[in-house]
Amino acid sequence: MASCEGIYGCQVPLRTIGSAAQAPWLEPSGRSLMSQSFPLDDVRARFPALAEEAGRIFLDNPAGTQVPDLVIDAVSDCFRRAFGNLGGYFATSRLAEETVARAHRQAALFCGAAGPQEIAIGASMTELTYAVGRAIARRLEPGDEIVVTSMDHEGNVSPWLQVAEDYGLTLRKIRFDDRSWRIEPGALAEVLNTRTKLLAVTYASNLSGAINPVAELTALAKQAGALVYVDAVQFAPHGLIDVAALGCDFLVCSAYKFFGPHISMLWGREEVLQALPADRLRCAAAAPGGRFERGTPQIELQAGFSAAIDYMLRLGRSLGAEAAPRNALAAAFGASQAYEADLMRQMIEGLTAIPGLTLRGPADLQRLDRRVPTFSVTSDRVSSRGMAAALAVRGIHAWSGHNYAYEIALQLGLDMDDGVLRLGAAHYNSAEEIARTLNALEDIARG
Ligand SMILES: Cc1ncc(COP(=O)(O)O)c(C=O)c1O
Repeated sequence: MASCEGIYGCQVPLRTIGSAAQAPWLEPSGRSLMSQSFPLDDVRARFPALAEEAGRIFLDNPAGTQVPDLVIDAVSDCFRRAFGNLGGYFATSRLAEETVARAHRQAALFCGAAGPQEIAIGASMTELTYAVGRAIARRLEPGDEIVVTSMDHEGNVSPWLQVAEDYGLTLRKIRFDDRSWRIEPGALAEVLNTRTKLLAVTYASNLSGAINPVAELTALAKQAGALVYVDAVQFAPHGLIDVAALGCDFLVCSAYKFFGPHISMLWGREEVLQALPADRLRCAAAAPGGRFERGTPQIELQAGFSAAIDYMLRLGRSLGAEAAPRNALAAAFGASQAYEADLMRQMIEGLTAIPGLTLRGPADLQRLDRRVPTFSVTSDRVSSRGMAAALAVRGIHAWSGHNYAYEIALQLGLDMDDGVLRLGAAHYNSAEEIARTLNALEDIARG
């Protein structure tokens, strides 16, 4: 096996990406354009939880990933050295301010924003969406329309449903396509009209794993004069976000899904944020994004947030990316995607071969670029709850239920109590883990 400089400069063996694939980030020969190899052993060594209890398999990643040592150290270092409130003359306050300022710069870098003034950091995606949603609704007239989708997590549906009720707005829902699992531009075009003021749409589904054509959907909505609010919570661990390329107005994601702590970020186009009437204390900070941050920030978690992005930067640089931070992020995500493509192929082939299981998401091996490695299945013999519990006994962490992908579960006609069994990989999962999980599931699914 070859070796490369590890994330912390150590020499580690490389695992070569396996079989050929047709995903666009791979050459026709199956060789990765971004990276021939993924330093899996080195990556895994960065995550203490993976070593904590040997044999545990973390496939609960769509609900939250594990964190690298860099994040753990940054949070505890903040408690030790920089634990003060903001705005003082003394050392801990100055350090806390720098921690918060850096988190906003890192967030801007992460999503390709024009600058940290376009960022709000808050407790969760849901919390930020409620705050911004209410502000947007205040600017609308009764009868104006908001479009939501049946592919979205409730975090990007309920807040719009409730402001629509409060402000006399009309809510229109578009369905994902039964074959592609995506929101097709045609479905959006059918509902757009001069009263459409906002499209709320997910980048990737937390149930089916399907990725939406967000740039295309955004372009259509913008032609109709609507704002576009993108939920990138499930895309963020798997691909490089570029808000400029997407053309949207808002984008939200949560660090605990991309190797960070329980804290979230919102990006908003500066002039759009500035024009919104935020609910805020009269004397609080007035940066466009900062207007949607309420109370004392979770400073220690913001330190961890920055470190999660540092982790991806280091991964990119260890793969030989140029020093420029966006290049390093692009390299880290490119290598992850190429690696995850192999896991996806293994998952799709394995899950679809197990008798009695139905995969509830895209299964096209030629279009792996249209999904993230989140897989949901139902069984005609065993409940989803039963499968998750049986996997847990074997040390395999997986979720059951609708996982707040309430609208998808409704469209699929699932049992709303039992939902699906969801298995979601991250770039630290190995092919061996996937194979063990598939074997266990085959056994469990016999009933
Ligand atoms: C796609 C998606 N959107 C939104 C959320 C809600 O995120 P938060 O817990 O940060 O509010 C989740 C959480 O699982 C999610 O998967």
